Amino acid sequence: MNRLQGKRALVSGAASGIARAIVLRLLEEGAQVVAVDVAETGLKETTELADAGDRLSTKLLDISDEAAVQQVVPAAIQELGGLDVLVNAAGILRGAHTHECSLDLWNRVISINLTGTFLMTREALPALLATRDGVVINFSSTSAFFAHPYMAAYSASKGGVASFTHSLASEYGKQGLRAVNIVPGGISSGITDNIGGLVPPDTDWGLFMKLSPALPGGIPGPEKVAGVVAMLVSGDGSFITGTEIRVDGGAHQ
Ligand SMILES: NC(=O)c1ccc[n+]([C@@H]2O[C@H](COP(=O)([O-])OP(=O)(O)OC[C@H]3O[C@@H](n4cnc5c(N)ncnc54)[C@H](O)[C@@H]3O)[C@@H](O)[C@H]2O)c1
Repeated sequence: MNRLQGKRALVSGAASGIARAIVLRLLEEGAQVVAVDVAETGLKETTELADAGDRLSTKLLDISDEAAVQQVVPAAIQELGGLDVLVNAAGILRGAHTHECSLDLWNRVISINLTGTFLMTREALPALLATRDGVVINFSSTSAFFAHPYMAAYSASKGGVASFTHSLASEYGKQGLRAVNIVPGGISSGITDNIGGLVPPDTDWGLFMKLSPALPGGIPGPEKVAGVVAMLVSGDGSFITGTEIRVDGGAHQ
């Protein structure tokens, strides 16, 4: 399928998990991609897996660093010759009992997941608007809409991302920009595969039972999300904006 031929995409978080799968899928469908992340080794692995020649390049970037974003995003846009698609998938999960959550932990999660999403979007907006057909895909989470324990900072950051995305869709819709929230449930990735190390040692796992998918097969791989993102950024998604797309196998009905 060549739905994305000629599309120029910038994807954050691309060294691992869901964003890596998105990079591979966008390339498979014909797009040109600049992939960014803080993790150099993971970015190299993504490049090796993609084997896409000059349709993929990578850049090291901490999305919470304003000066770095102001340098790297314009460089990426220049390299691509413009921008049609921004995927803000970089993020971290750090859990704690809320009464023990340090301000450092809170600030770190908010600064990457929420402020980083804002910084990337702000920097990319002029180029996205110039195409009259740009799209921003942001990563919220089911934790923003349904009760997930031990994740006060994470859930709040993802709720913020969701609201931010609706503002974008409203403010820039008449200029052709679309903005959509992806709301994954449990998807196998760097975050979920290490979940035991990210929540308190005395976690009550029973509280997570209700988050199990209704569909058979357990927790799926990140390609389940990548296919949805490819549809959304293609012409097939051209009437979808200002909304959430939940990808959780029916865990939260
Ligand atoms: N996996 C799930 O079940 C799930 C559920 C809901 C939401 N999400 C969201 O999906 C997105 C992708 O996460 P994932 O599950 O693939 O996890 P992941 O850990 O596999 O990937 C996250 C990537 O973000 C990168 N990153 C972290 N901080 C960064 C920073 N400051 N600057 C640039 N890159 C940074 C990491 O290096 C990593 O490569 C995240 O926003 C996450 O919150 C995931």
